[in-house]
Amino acid sequence: MHLFKLCFSDFVKLVTSNNNNNSMLASVTCTAPVNIATIKYWGKRDENLILPLNSSLSGTLHQDDLKTTTTAVASESFEEDALWLNGKKEDVNSVRYQNVLKTIRSRATKLMDKKHFVHICSINNFPTAAGLASSASGYACLVYVLAQLYGVEGDVSSIARLGSGSACRSMFGGFVKWEMGTKADGSDSIAVQVAPESHWPDMNIIVLVVNDKKKETSSTDGMQRSAQTSAMMKERCATTVPERMVTIERAIQEHDFQTFGDITMKDSDDFHEVCATTDPPIYYLNDTSRYIMNLIHRYNKLAGSVRCAYTFDAGPNACIYLPQESVAEVLSLFLKHFPAGEGVQNYYRGTDEVFAKVNDYQ
Ligand code: ADP
Ligand code: DP6
Ligand code: CO
Repeated sequence: MHLFKLCFSDFVKLVTSNNNNNSMLASVTCTAPVNIATIKYWGKRDENLILPLNSSLSGTLHQDDLKTTTTAVASESFEEDALWLNGKKEDVNSVRYQNVLKTIRSRATKLMDKKHFVHICSINNFPTAAGLASSASGYACLVYVLAQLYGVEGDVSSIARLGSGSACRSMFGGFVKWEMGTKADGSDSIAVQVAPESHWPDMNIIVLVVNDKKKETSSTDGMQRSAQTSAMMKERCATTVPERMVTIERAIQEHDFQTFGDITMKDSDDFHEVCATTDPPIYYLNDTSRYIMNLIHRYNKLAGSVRCAYTFDAGPNACIYLPQESVAEVLSLFLKHFPAGEGVQNYYRGTDEVFAKVNDYQ
């Protein structure tokens, strides 16, 4: 069991660049954070443009612990585009990489004189394809790096959406919604910041890595199957999510953690119910995930209020949203139930105050 205590929040950053129009070898390095949805995106109405069946809302994490780092180099001497993910060569001919590359090049203001291919190297410092939103930080970082390299101006979150839907939300910090939009060309299906990080500075996220293995069913395949077969999808998209979007946005504006936490857990539960009612069923949660859910419900009940809220993406790993005042007690609860193991040190780093409080509780 790995346990990360993360701050909230961040956005894509430029690390280095030696990019100029005359350069034979231009390179850019960026980092990008993951975002964790409280209202889940699940299902597409357009697979190619990646247009969702419902709006969604997430918090962007700080990238001190979980991040993607991507370097892109452009050169006239390269013979093809190439991408290495965590040291392994990826197939850049996939529709998504091609859509991203083509769109970036069509909006380029640099490297236009000659044909420049790119070589891209990307590393996630957390489990890839395990339900911790690697596609979000991964494509946000890729698009930002390429936009810097090719001098693409203006908002590029809609290009990130072409790589992975959830990636458009990692382009902004704080709380971000992805408006589903209604237009066929996707021009109104955009990410919008609902509140900056400074609006709710004492919001925290704890990530419990239950299993770091690659999931059996990718988010892309899973949501396609759910959209085709789950009887729950219709009502979820027509009424449940639109109502929750309004309520959770208001809860964020009013710093109302009771409502925020309650809806976050309900939407996570409903999302996994949608997966279970998919034909054939998809099960992302495991016994440890359910143990964590139970623990949090029991803890909140005992406390008489929502002190922390779980949410699970398409994987067994838990993300817990909680206000600063709950952090020490909730961390000590997890440490009691999941005794300190490898990775626990990670959350101690830079959180001395919390460390002291945890010791008080033990
Ligand atoms: P997750 O729950 O981690 O988002 P997904 O099934 O949504 O899992 O997506 C995983 C896929 O996202 C990977 O198989 C890979 O194709 C892509 N991806 C992940 N990280 C990166 C990255 N750093 N750069 C480019 N693509 C990435
Ligand atoms: C459960 O964005 O990974 O994490 O658009 O097909 O790449 P694609 O899917 P992806 O789906 C994310 C699903 C989710 C919920 C969410 O992040 O909103
Ligand atoms: Co994903």
